[in-house]
Amino acid sequence: MARLGTDDLQWAIQRRLEDVFARLGEKFGDLTGRVETSIRPNVSFDEVGGLKSAKAMLRGFAHALTNPDLYGQWGIAPPRGVLLYGPPGTGKSMLARALATESGAIFYHLKLMNLTSKFGANTGELLQEVFRIAAGEGRAVLFLDEADALSLEHLLPPPQAREASARLVAALCEKLDALEPSARVLVLAATSRTDALDSGLITPGRLDRLVEVTLPDAAAQEEILELIRTGAERAAGRALFAPVDYQKILPVMGGMTGADVSEIIRRALEEKVHQVASGREAAPVTTEDLLDAIDAYKRVRGVVEKIRYGQYL
Ligand SMILES: Nc1ncnc2c1ncn2[C@@H]1O[C@H](COP(=O)(O)OP(=O)(O)OP(=O)(O)O)[C@@H](O)[C@H]1O
Ligand SMILES: [Mg+2]
Repeated sequence: MARLGTDDLQWAIQRRLEDVFARLGEKFGDLTGRVETSIRPNVSFDEVGGLKSAKAMLRGFAHALTNPDLYGQWGIAPPRGVLLYGPPGTGKSMLARALATESGAIFYHLKLMNLTSKFGANTGELLQEVFRIAAGEGRAVLFLDEADALSLEHLLPPPQAREASARLVAALCEKLDALEPSARVLVLAATSRTDALDSGLITPGRLDRLVEVTLPDAAAQEEILELIRTGAERAAGRALFAPVDYQKILPVMGGMTGADVSEIIRRALEEKVHQVASGREAAPVTTEDLLDAIDAYKRVRGVVEKIRYGQYL
């Protein structure tokens, strides 16, 4: 049989996962959850600004995928699970993808919000299928985004939520416990709500490697801004920014995350699009433009956060 190309493989795995959903959907009722796969994730650690120690720790865990035998030679099993924790928008999802990229693993993104709300009690079977498919395809990073969704409190009234959550956590723990030492599967979970996380998940042998993903300090913010600026220029194929005066920018960015920085740059560039679209001349983005974008962003941030956390839903 001819070797499958990347696109074909991606398609084949995605189809198998969709079949699982369809099959379990028939059994348990309408299921709309999703697992998204990237055969060749393309985010690298170099694109993640700041977070030196988080990156170093994750690079270490990559050996669990690339060289699990090495652990055996030292009489131990490779790590199975990593929990990334830290404020929203600080790069947790990027790090998870970068780990898959650097270790040549397929990236499986489990959208837990969907899964838990639809699956309730039946997540065990779903997880089993996903683990089986992932383990059968070689190196795999299974990414459970928003792992605090495992606590389900926001979806169901407390007694049912506790019960459904306990079942889901038990199912996940069982799958982690059952992984063979030689399996090239690493589970990464991310949460910004450590308070809501089930403590059973972080016991030894499970998501027992804890990686803090911190808010960027000024130096990291500068690094992130440069990364996003050069990324935009690469995408446009030309220079878009005048030299940035960081002495002016950084003091007004205290507490801002990488996601905030990315949004500010987007807004500054969008302003240029509007200028050009309305027939005006548009010069490259200046420090003043960025300061205006920061100002405008700060004004709407309160609203953005309310929408993001569902308070308006
Ligand atoms: N450290 C960083 N370096 C470069 N870009 C970053 C960084 N942190 C965040 N970003 C930018 O913000 C976006 C969102 O980051 P990401 O999704 O990784 O954050 P997160 O921690 O997973 O957030 P959430 O908790 O909301 O899921 C990224 O796509 C990127 O543009
Ligand atoms: Mg994320």
